[in-house]
Formats: sequence, structure tokens, C-alpha cells
Amino acid sequence: MKTFKRYLITSALPYANGPIHIGHLAGVYIPSDIYTRYLRMKGVDVISVCGSDEHGVPITIKARQEGVSPQQVVDKYNDIIKQSFKDFGIAFDIYSRTSSKVHYQTAAEFFRKLYDDGAFIEKTTEQYYDQEVGQFLADRYITGTCPHCSNERAYGDQCEKCGTSLNATDLINPSSTLSGSKPVLKETKHWFLPLDNYQEFLEKWILEDHKEWKNNVYGQCKSWLDQGLQPRAVSRDLDWGVPVPVDGATGKVLYVWFDAPIGYISATKELTPDWEKYWKDSETRMIHFIGKDNIVFHCIVFPAMLKAEGSYILPDNVPANEFLNLEGDKISTSRNWAVWLHEYLVEFPNKQDVLRYTLAANMPETKDNDFTWKDFQGRNNSELVAILGNFVNRAMVLTQKYFEGKIPACNALTDFDKETLAEIPKIKEAIEQNLEGFRFRDALKEAMNLARLGNKYLADTEPWKLFKDQPERVATILNISLQITANLSILLQPFLPFSAEKLRRMINLNECDWNRAGASDILAIGHQLNQPELLFDKIEDDVIDAQLAKLQATKVANEKASAKVEPLKGNITYDEFSKMDIRIGTILEAERVPKTQKLMKLLIDTGIDKRTVVSGIAEHFTPEEIVGKQVSILVNLEPRKIKGIESHGMLLMAEDIDGKLRFVQPGEKVENGSTVK
Ligand code: 2FM
Ligand code: ZN
Repeated sequence: MKTFKRYLITSALPYANGPIHIGHLAGVYIPSDIYTRYLRMKGVDVISVCGSDEHGVPITIKARQEGVSPQQVVDKYNDIIKQSFKDFGIAFDIYSRTSSKVHYQTAAEFFRKLYDDGAFIEKTTEQYYDQEVGQFLADRYITGTCPHCSNERAYGDQCEKCGTSLNATDLINPSSTLSGSKPVLKETKHWFLPLDNYQEFLEKWILEDHKEWKNNVYGQCKSWLDQGLQPRAVSRDLDWGVPVPVDGATGKVLYVWFDAPIGYISATKELTPDWEKYWKDSETRMIHFIGKDNIVFHCIVFPAMLKAEGSYILPDNVPANEFLNLEGDKISTSRNWAVWLHEYLVEFPNKQDVLRYTLAANMPETKDNDFTWKDFQGRNNSELVAILGNFVNRAMVLTQKYFEGKIPACNALTDFDKETLAEIPKIKEAIEQNLEGFRFRDALKEAMNLARLGNKYLADTEPWKLFKDQPERVATILNISLQITANLSILLQPFLPFSAEKLRRMINLNECDWNRAGASDILAIGHQLNQPELLFDKIEDDVIDAQLAKLQATKVANEKASAKVEPLKGNITYDEFSKMDIRIGTILEAERVPKTQKLMKLLIDTGIDKRTVVSGIAEHFTPEEIVGKQVSILVNLEPRKIKGIESHGMLLMAEDIDGKLRFVQPGEKVENGSTVK
């Protein structure tokens, strides 16, 4: 295998149109962080770059929805995202943004070089245009009827009901979401990257030279290549993005997927004047960490762009992950079906590593995986507390008790001692092999095996029973246990940086050099430990139940929002129904009940009598508009006092799912007192 002098790690630039959730973390940022931390600890020359992806149509849509400018949207979410990464210890060397000056310049220069080299083809196509607003419409700005399932609210790129991908021109009765008007087709010119020209090169580079890529990545690339690549537009008619840097391109910007990956280059430029060393030297190993929806852009489109430019290296690997679900359902920002990082930290302060651990242990490496709160609790209580925390605590407490917190001398070793110590470098090597192969779950499992080894060692040697008669033997056992602890504090650092650091503080170890791990003499004899503290604590059922209840409330709210009608109530008997005496009456007088929002006091002629009824309709009607109206009234409802007024009966109203009220009235005028049966 080729050896490299340095590493360039990129992590997908998150869209700055919402905060970050556990799916982002498990799919992209935990693996890239573990990998980068590991390389840094080995002393490798490595940089890790990321930043906010601040262009594209979803951001302009969000801005419209919130009634603010796109810049305000990205400013807000860039801050939130950046903070979340910091809070969770995702240690990029730089977190930049694609609205930066350097990025605009870099992206424009990149486009211009390809343009000048004749790498693009120019094509004029017809696209929908909103004449009222005077703007070409991105596919997401057009809705209409899906030709496949007749859903009347399909988008110009996809019908979310039947899942079919659409072209805007497929929609029946298209309408612009900007003005509601019917869009017209209008000619527009765009620049296309002819990916078909790179087909042969990509086939060789991926299918022959990178057979080692993960199956999910290799498979998706093969399927794209087998279908045959087509030219792709790299510009859009939009007023938000990097302007296309050629004459006559007013109102056109670079397509977000053209400028976003160039964001990796701009971020590197911002980080170091030496940036070309990382991008243009074949001795640099570039690795893109992404989610599966980004595979085609990072394995096919961006490499074709880099190849067209000519002076850049290509990624050596793209270890994309699949998706993480939440309690069996797809994570969704619009349905608020997610665990948001900023909320998690409020609800679980200082428990970043518990989430990092659960997400790494459940990483969707080869297939979609599920996050459940029960699993989160189990991982914490049965693994972090019961295995790792327990072992470390026992080793530390016993050393305080018998040796005043000083590393005791290692005396004659038994075969069991030797076997135990021999395991440490083996485990280290297994972790390394798994990390090098991007198998993060297995790597973490191996690291935890070291804690398991320690636990078993203590359980088998039982030093607490020996001190009186064999203090020297106890010294050896605790020395070995503490060397295991020291190894844990190094080997766990990439996965659980907060806890590993705390552990090193406890054992008073300043260094954190990966190359020291595997050794049995990290802590010298006589080295003074600090006081032990608990590394993790138990998470009780009520905490988990509260999280499940929160999700359940989201589910109910979503169901209500998507339902067109209220769910059916249980059956009743005819007798139960016939007990209700419902009459037609006429509203004679109406006035608002003072100091209330909803209540109206009505005088109603029921045909039987004239009576007062208090009704919650004041937000829907004015008194003037309802006097004289015929209404249906339940007359034998027990009288009750509402705001000090005795109400004799109840009006029947039709309420739609949005809560709008209308009177239930006879189709034509009838005598007051007529019954409703
Ligand atoms: O899918 C996404 O969230 C994109 N914003 C990823 C961009 S990755 C890179 F190309 F910038
Ligand atoms: Zn459909």
C-alpha cells in the first residue's frame, strides 16, 4: 500500500438551515473526529477541515418562511452548528463557511479556470419562470399534481407522497409557491460539466483502482457508472450564491453542489498559507467523510471537477456511512423527529461522551441503524458505568486504600499476569487495524475489551482479599491494573475525549501519545495518583421515559398536523344518542363576554323559550354578523356557570382540522324549536 506524508480530512459541510442532530453526528462527524484524533495522537501531519454550506434553494426557502434574509438564516445556524461541534469535542482545525470572501474568490476562480479551459458546455433549456415575481423557479418552488399518484402538493423535483423523482415539467397544473401564479416556460442558458467525458477515467479510478472502498460506496458508484454519466448543470438562476464569473451571466449563480466541495479548499486556504501542500501533492492522503446521500457528489462529480482543473489530488477514500434512524423512524427536521445536539446538552449536561459512545457503537457503517433511548441507557449503565467506570474506580480506590495513591512496585509476575499484559499491545493493534479500515464500531469494541480485560483481571485475582497476607502480590496486581487504566486513557481518547481526559487527570498523566499505548510501564513506580472520581453515572428510567414521552408528543402533533379529519370516536347506543334534545333556534342578541378572548353571550329563541347561552365562538365571529342566524342548540344540557353567567345549552359547531368554526344550520329556514334527529 502506498505510504503518505500527510493527511487531509474533510467532513461534509452541513447546510446552515437548521441545527445539528444525532444523525449528522453518527454519520459523518463522530467518525471523522475519531479518525483525525487518532492520526494526531500518532504524530501524523493531518488537518481536518469543515464549515457551513450556506448556499442552495433550501436556505432561500427557509429565509422566506421566517421572513428574513438568507444571510440572516445562515448567520444564525452557522453559530448554532459551530457551537454544537465545539460542545461535542468535534475538533476541526478550521470550521469555515461558504459565504466567506476567500470562498467566493476560490469558487469563482475554480469555475473560471474550467470555463477558460473549455471544460463546460453551454446549453439553453426551457425552465419555469414566475412572471409576477420576475424570477426563474427552482424545482422546489413549484408545486402541482403528481402524474403518478395525483397528490396535489407534489414538488417540482419530487412527490413526497409516492416518493417519485420528478421534473418540474411533469407536474399537472404547476403553480409557483412564490406568487401562486401559473409559471411559464422560458429559455435560459446554463453551464454543464460533461460528466460523460470523464466516464472512462472514473471507471478505472474507482472500479479498478479503488476496490478497497466500502461496499456501500463502491456499489453506488458502480451503479451510477453503469447507467452512464450525463452532463450536469453547474449553474442556477437564483439570487443567492456565488455569481457565475463570466460576462452575460447576470442573475446566475454557481450550483450549490459545485461550490460546496470547493469549500473544503477555501477552508484549507483560510487555515494555512501552506494549503497547496495538502491539495496538490500526491503524498497527501485526502479522505472525505460524508453520509450516503453525498456519495455521487464526492466520488463522481467533485473528482471530475478536480480532474478537469488538473492540479489537484483526488480523494484516496470516501468512507460514507448509511443513515441513522430514531426509534424506528427516519430522522426528519421538518417533522422535528430528531435528537438535537443543543437540546441534548441541556437535558444531559456533561454527558457528551455518553452520546458519542452510543453513536459510535451504533454507527450506521454498513446499513441504516437505529438510535433508541433504551439502548442509550443500556450502553451507559451496562457498559460505560458497569465495565469501564467500575474497573477504573476499583483500581484507583484500592491503590488509594493500600498504597496512598502511589503506583506500587511490580514484583514477580505470574503466567496470568504475563498473559494479561500481553493482551494490551494486541488490543492496541486491533484498534488500529479497525480504525485504518474505517470500522469504528469494531475499533471501539476493542477499546472496551481492554476495560473488560481489566475487570476480569481484578475479578480473578481478588486483591481485596490478599492485602493482609500478600501485600507484594497486591502491589503487582494494582500496578498491572493501573497500567491498563493508563492505556485506556490513551486508547479511548479518540472516542471519548472528555472522559479520557478526566481519567488522565485522575491518574495524573500529562502525555497522550498513541505511540506510548501498548506499554506496561506508562505509570512509573511511586507516581502519585489524584483522587478518584466517578467517570460515568447511572441513567435512571424516569430520565429515559421523559425522552420517550417527548418523542411521543412529537408523534401526536405530527399525526394531528397531517390528518385531514379527527380520528373516529368509539360507538354509542341509539339510546345514548336519543337522550340529546337538539333544536333549531335563532340568535336574537350577541355580545362579547368582557375580559375573555373566546366567549360570547347569546340570547337564543329556541321555539320553547328565550335563553342565554355562553359559547366559545368570539374568535371566529363578530356579534353583528351572527344576530339573526339560525343555529342548532343542545337544549337539555345541564345549565352551568361560565364566567359568572349561567349558560343553558350548547351551540353545535362544525370545526375543521385547523380549528376553524362554522355553525351547523338547516339547509333552509325552519320554525324555531324544530328538532334535529
Ligand atoms: O448534504 C449536505 O448536508 C450538504 N450540505 C453536504 C455538502 S458536502 C460538501 F460538498 F460541501
Ligand atoms: Zn406522487
